Amino acid sequence: MEFLGVSGALVALVAAFCLLILLLILIFCWWVSPILKQKKLKRCGIGGPTPSFPLGNIKEMKRKNSNNIHSSIVSSNLTHDIHSNVFPYFSTWQKSHGKVFVYWLGTEPFLYVADPEFLKKMSSEVIAKRWGKPSVFRNDRDPMFGSGLVMVEGDDWVRHRNIVAPAFNPLNIKVLASMMVESTNKMIERWATQINSGNPEIDVEREVIATAGEIIARTIFSMKDNNARDVFDKLRALQMTLFKTNRYVGVPFGKYFDFKKTLEAKKLGKEIDELLLSIIEARNKNNSLNKENSQQDLLGMLLQENQHKKVDGKVGKALTMREVVDECKTFFFGGHETTALAISWTLLVLALHEDWQNQLRDEIREVVGNNNMLDVTMLSGLKKMKWVMNEVLRLYPPAPNVQRQARDDIKVDNLTVPNGTNIWIDVVAMHHDTELWGKDANEFRPERFKDDVNGGCNHRMGYLSFGFGGRMCVGRNLTYMEYKIVLTLLLSNFSFKVSPAYNHSPSVMLSLRPTYGLPLIVQPLQQI
Ligand code: HEM
Ligand SMILES: *[C@@H]1O[C@H](CO)[C@@H](O)[C@H](O)[C@H]1NC(C)=O
Ligand SMILES: *[C@@H]1O[C@H](CO)[C@@H](O)[C@H](O)[C@H]1NC(C)=O
Ligand SMILES: *[C@@H]1O[C@H](CO)[C@@H](O)[C@H](O)[C@H]1NC(C)=O
Ligand SMILES: *[C@@H]1O[C@H](CO)[C@@H](O)[C@H](O)[C@H]1NC(C)=O
Ligand SMILES: *[C@@H]1O[C@H](CO)[C@@H](O)[C@H](O)[C@H]1NC(C)=O
Ligand SMILES: *[C@@H]1O[C@H](CO)[C@@H](O)[C@H](O)[C@H]1NC(C)=O
Repeated sequence: MEFLGVSGALVALVAAFCLLILLLILIFCWWVSPILKQKKLKRCGIGGPTPSFPLGNIKEMKRKNSNNIHSSIVSSNLTHDIHSNVFPYFSTWQKSHGKVFVYWLGTEPFLYVADPEFLKKMSSEVIAKRWGKPSVFRNDRDPMFGSGLVMVEGDDWVRHRNIVAPAFNPLNIKVLASMMVESTNKMIERWATQINSGNPEIDVEREVIATAGEIIARTIFSMKDNNARDVFDKLRALQMTLFKTNRYVGVPFGKYFDFKKTLEAKKLGKEIDELLLSIIEARNKNNSLNKENSQQDLLGMLLQENQHKKVDGKVGKALTMREVVDECKTFFFGGHETTALAISWTLLVLALHEDWQNQLRDEIREVVGNNNMLDVTMLSGLKKMKWVMNEVLRLYPPAPNVQRQARDDIKVDNLTVPNGTNIWIDVVAMHHDTELWGKDANEFRPERFKDDVNGGCNHRMGYLSFGFGGRMCVGRNLTYMEYKIVLTLLLSNFSFKVSPAYNHSPSVMLSLRPTYGLPLIVQPLQQI
């Protein structure tokens, strides 16, 4: 009995000791190490708001956010000066800490950058494959992007990029146009029916996102309706679920705050992976049977590029089937909402600027003519539409920020950004900065892009709609085509006015979206 008592005490002692060690480790990781990192950045002269443990600056960010939701702007007189609405905390901190400072998500320090010159100097030190993506986000969004192109780093990124980028070449993309026309025409018929039934108010954002989702599902897999819908619904559900859990990124054990949602996301992610894997495997079998007849869609093109890599004798360079699944998901999440939002914000701005609505219609009549049978080769003639697109992407960038993580110490002038630092680039701030664009920075003026692809921005790193450097968006050309097709068809059939029900309050839900939807009054045109 006594013996047992002694050993029991011993066990308790050892356990207590282990617990103490664990506690010390945790304190070091969550408290001491972040403080050291902060000290290091401070020594370099980078300031920022004071963080608290363990939430960092999250509390302040949330408070500023909820304050703002009620101060929405009257729709009849709305402003494009949205930065203080979209990122109220950054807008406030900029005033006291400048355009480069450090803030904290939980115990993770982030270097905030809204200064293109700083960005230029920093990125001239780092080639594309040496950039990291913040581990906190990579883990959090793993069910969405996995190891798809958006998230991979280093040599893996080079390998992925070399296979994915050629799949998006202009010849391949052209083949996808007819699916875009088909899906858009279906939406147009739906709208016409609704208007005929006496209700001309249409939530354009919801409609266009649904259509863009259908388009991306069909351009990836050529799947008609039901199958595409199934994958689409699951992928959307995943995004919704994840965005409920995203609020505590960077906080220790943050993902357990909303454990049910985290589990749900994991489960959905798994279902999607299996669904996609079975589609791809069926496709692969088919392809080895008839090599000539590979399907004309993004997956087919990707598998084709992948096949070339294998034929080169370098099997190790090809993508595994898991990686192909992740690329498909990446195209889905990276490709449909962004494009849909570019189109939706354009419809809003055109509803506010009737003159531009008419100018674009005139251009469409001249370049494309009156027929509903769009000829893709003519799209490049839509010059004004391209200026409008660039200007809308400037004022309402669907990807409102770009993230990086330093994988080495980076020297910028006389300061050093330490290895491991997360970097958060504020695209909205730069796109609305009067020091970069002039006094009219917050006005809609597409002609600024007339003779200058940089829109007259006085710094070439000040316009970042599609990112920068070697990691620039691979889907750009696909987006240009989809934007022009959808807008051409819509403007040929309808005119647009802002609905009195519209509440102008852009906010970030992964992408930059209208918080309360985007109701417009849509009227059929007399045939133009
Ligand atoms: C208006 C539409 C779009 C916008 C605003 C947009 C924006 C961006 C931005 C800002 C980046 C850079 C991210 C970074 O550097 O961290 C990016 C990368 C990427 N985008 Fe897009 N995108 C659009 C459409 C598309 C489409 C249609 C696809 C594919 C179907 C796509 C696929 C990708 C991929 C795979 C990357 C990662 C490239 C890499 O890291 O090498 N995007 N996009
Ligand atoms: C409304 O428009 C007028 C003139 O166009 C402008 O002076 C005023 O500042 C605007 N008000 C708001 C709240 O944007
Ligand atoms: C849309 O416009 C085209 C031609 O501009 C026309 O052929 C088509 O019937 C219109 N669609 C609807 C639903 O009105
Ligand atoms: C296999 O190929 C045939 C003919 O090319 C096609 O009809 C069929 O849909 C393909 N099946 C799959 C699963 O891709
Ligand atoms: C940066 O930090 C990571 C992890 O802390 C380490 O593995 C890596 O070797 C470091 N990179 C350099 C270049 O020192
Ligand atoms: C170097 O750092 C000091 C502050 O530590 C700053 O005042 C100075 O402007 C910096 N020099 C350059 C060239 O950025
Ligand atoms: C887009 O297409 C043009 C040619 O039309 C090509 O030069 C460019 O490399 C393409 N961009 C991407 C990102 O694929």
